[in-house]
Amino acid sequence: MPGNAARADKKKAEPGIQRCVNGACGATYGLRERVYLCSRCGETLEIDCGLARPRNPESLRREWAARTSSRSALDASGVWRFRDLLPFKNNAPIVTLREGNTPLFDAPRSAKYCGLAGLRLKHQGYNPTGSFKDTGMATAVTQAAISGARTAVCASTGNTAASLAAYAARAGMQAAILLPHGQVSSSKLAQSLDYGALVLEIEGNFDACMRLVQELGDDPSIYVANSINPFRIEGQKTVAFEMMEQCGWRVPDHVVVPGGNMGNSTALGKGFQELLDLGLIRRVPKLSVIQAEGAAPLARMFAALSPRQRADFDHLPQKLEAVENPQTLATAIKIGAPVSWKKALRSVLRSGGQIISVSEQEIADAKAMIGRDSIGCEPASATTVAGIKKLVAAGHIGRKDDVVAVLTGHALKDPDYMIRYHEGTLSLGAKDEPAELKLAGAFRNAPQRVAATKAAILSSLERQR
Ligand code: F0G
Repeated sequence: MPGNAARADKKKAEPGIQRCVNGACGATYGLRERVYLCSRCGETLEIDCGLARPRNPESLRREWAARTSSRSALDASGVWRFRDLLPFKNNAPIVTLREGNTPLFDAPRSAKYCGLAGLRLKHQGYNPTGSFKDTGMATAVTQAAISGARTAVCASTGNTAASLAAYAARAGMQAAILLPHGQVSSSKLAQSLDYGALVLEIEGNFDACMRLVQELGDDPSIYVANSINPFRIEGQKTVAFEMMEQCGWRVPDHVVVPGGNMGNSTALGKGFQELLDLGLIRRVPKLSVIQAEGAAPLARMFAALSPRQRADFDHLPQKLEAVENPQTLATAIKIGAPVSWKKALRSVLRSGGQIISVSEQEIADAKAMIGRDSIGCEPASATTVAGIKKLVAAGHIGRKDDVVAVLTGHALKDPDYMIRYHEGTLSLGAKDEPAELKLAGAFRNAPQRVAATKAAILSSLERQR
């Protein structure tokens, strides 16, 4: 499957290895071995594709660009178009739904809101199931098919579920989905049902679902499709490649992403690092991750790191203190114990970026601002614009810096949140309890009831002008 580029050893049986991220352990596994955590030390794994610097990076860029005008299903995919840098053989049973190829929008109102001269938003919500998960699911489900799994399973706050349901259906494989009961938007739940997945609503939160999935992974018939699986990261890293193409290979100063289970930040960090190692870019952008205040274990750890610890990214803290009972209306990132925290932290520290958290009000208003830019996104994605505003105010991002934020999910993933924001009824916590947090919509736009007459409508128009 890989094209002409850059394999260190083309005769190798498998195009790469899986390696424990714990440098002191150094355990490696073949690509066919179904392991998610290192059997020696329990750390997560990452794939080393064994890529060597191409003699002519420009020819690789040209080939990727040329594939955009090809009619083949592989080339039409914004993931498989970059197959030269993916760990699959030529004859792999590729699964694709034309993922990737997502737009990079200018967002002038959001830029102004953040105090920036300009801001671009890379919208992964334009993927086939409406979220960034599809790029990683294309590779993960392909690997599940290679490994002969009968069932692909995932824990999810909704988007991974919808994506796995779609890709497993395409591959003719059973999908089993563990969702925290009552904590997933109905749009996402509806998608999983429609794609024919077995949906299991668990009495517990996402972290409990994630623990169960890891237990299920011991069964040889079951393949874990969460981002703990390094094959997910491989597909998701292609977003960095596509973004660089869209930026004309001029590296932005900052790339900003939301943080939940930390697969996305891990993947972008890996993507940029590989481009650097291959000589396709000269530096990596500063990668910053934004969490919701009530579900921000990594932002909390980051804030407590000394400057020396921040510089020593080869010796990361061993343990992340989980948030026991995470709370946020951005349900996609309502996660207290992210599995890929170490890989993400290493990427952020290596790039010189930040990990911070933002409040519910900040997320809600940033989301409305992204809507005013005629772009829109789901709440979790809006942490980026809220976070950028804060990072500009704190001087971590310069007003004239070149900034790209990654929007992870489509606006229609959570219409209920939008309606409640605009009607002014958005709140977090039990209704009428003292702890209830009521959110004011700074950019409220409630529907108006008008009489069925031309005069009434004209008078409404006049009032809004
Ligand atoms: N944004 C959206 C819309 C998401 O659905 C998620 C994660 C994230 C951001 C965070 O990305 O986990 O890679 O750091 N959703 C997962 C799910 C947990 O199950 O759909 P991350």
